[in-house]
Amino acid sequence: MIDRFAIAATGNLLFGDGTFSELDNQVALRGFAHAALLSSRTFSSTERFSHAVEALRDRGIGVSVIPVSGEPTVASIDRISKAVADAGCDVVVGIGGGSALDSAKAVAVMALQLAKNHDPISVKRYLEGVGDLTPPAERLGLIAIPTTAGTGSEATKNAVVADIGPQGFKKSLRHDSYIPDLVIIDPLLAKGLPRAVTAASGLDALTQLMEAYTSTKANPFIDSLALDAIGRIGNALPRLLESEASDPSLRSDMAYAAYISGMAIANSGLGYVHGLAGPLGGLHAAAHGIICGSLIAPINRAMVEIHALSGEPAVFKTKMEQIALLWGKRGMEGVLSHVEYITRIADFPRLGTFGFLEDELRSIGSKDVGRNSPVALPAEQVVSILVSLL
Ligand SMILES: [Fe+2]
Repeated sequence: MIDRFAIAATGNLLFGDGTFSELDNQVALRGFAHAALLSSRTFSSTERFSHAVEALRDRGIGVSVIPVSGEPTVASIDRISKAVADAGCDVVVGIGGGSALDSAKAVAVMALQLAKNHDPISVKRYLEGVGDLTPPAERLGLIAIPTTAGTGSEATKNAVVADIGPQGFKKSLRHDSYIPDLVIIDPLLAKGLPRAVTAASGLDALTQLMEAYTSTKANPFIDSLALDAIGRIGNALPRLLESEASDPSLRSDMAYAAYISGMAIANSGLGYVHGLAGPLGGLHAAAHGIICGSLIAPINRAMVEIHALSGEPAVFKTKMEQIALLWGKRGMEGVLSHVEYITRIADFPRLGTFGFLEDELRSIGSKDVGRNSPVALPAEQVVSILVSLL
């Protein structure tokens, strides 16, 4: 018996080495006249990027280049959306890591709202949990081009927008129609990515895949994609971090797995690690991937220990054993030790270095943060995991 499920997925995907050079052709095919290119400063200073801008202009397509730095905030989205609306852009192209892609998503929605309304409106009003308005379905055209093999934002229907500080938050602007119209995944774009970024974004993707695959909301359609992607990432990520940073086949596996991780969370949900990463990331400016990478091993170990007491749900053990097979490991313990090995060589700074205080961690850990986790953890255990990471 297969329980009822629904799938929200990318309409068009272009995957493979060199596909970035197709951007101008794809924008022209869709009839867009003016593209806003939202990209990290690092990528927008590359020759590849200059060629793409030139190729678009050669086709008579207007281009506004807008550098994006750091994770999107209410202030940055409001400012960029106004610039994009003022320039009269009809498509937003996000090129970069999760920050650039989430910015592009939110700007595609907000620039259209600003163009239509005379009174300026802030994205905060549409955010889950803090806004007072329902997010609009309509937006400008949206193309996502990931460069870091991380968040899988190119495949999801939400943009995470933050306001960092004591009253800070990280909340989603979410609607089924925010899945990009076109995703271009060119694994070559991640060539030369710094090791620390490969580690943080790779562990975010692995966490997303494992949380979605073992989620209580999992479905067989996504499971079949997620399991294969977990196999790829569990084999490729440690090799990339050990010594083979320039191997193109590993980058290809990572880029694919990251895309599937986005599709998986959009359709199967998440667990404790992301339940904690949201509020933690709103409090201090620690990279999302570092938070996930710090939590994935101890949270999974705690779940396996609690699970051993009752053996329920049986499917959790079955799924962990399937992962072990793909990684060439034995059973649940084999999965845990491999994840521990990857996070150890990722060598992340401890949470304390970002300014987290024990009281803050106690307060966040004692809330209901399990999301769709297959195993419930006692709050005091979640708190003690967090405090151990200070
Ligand atoms: Fe994530």
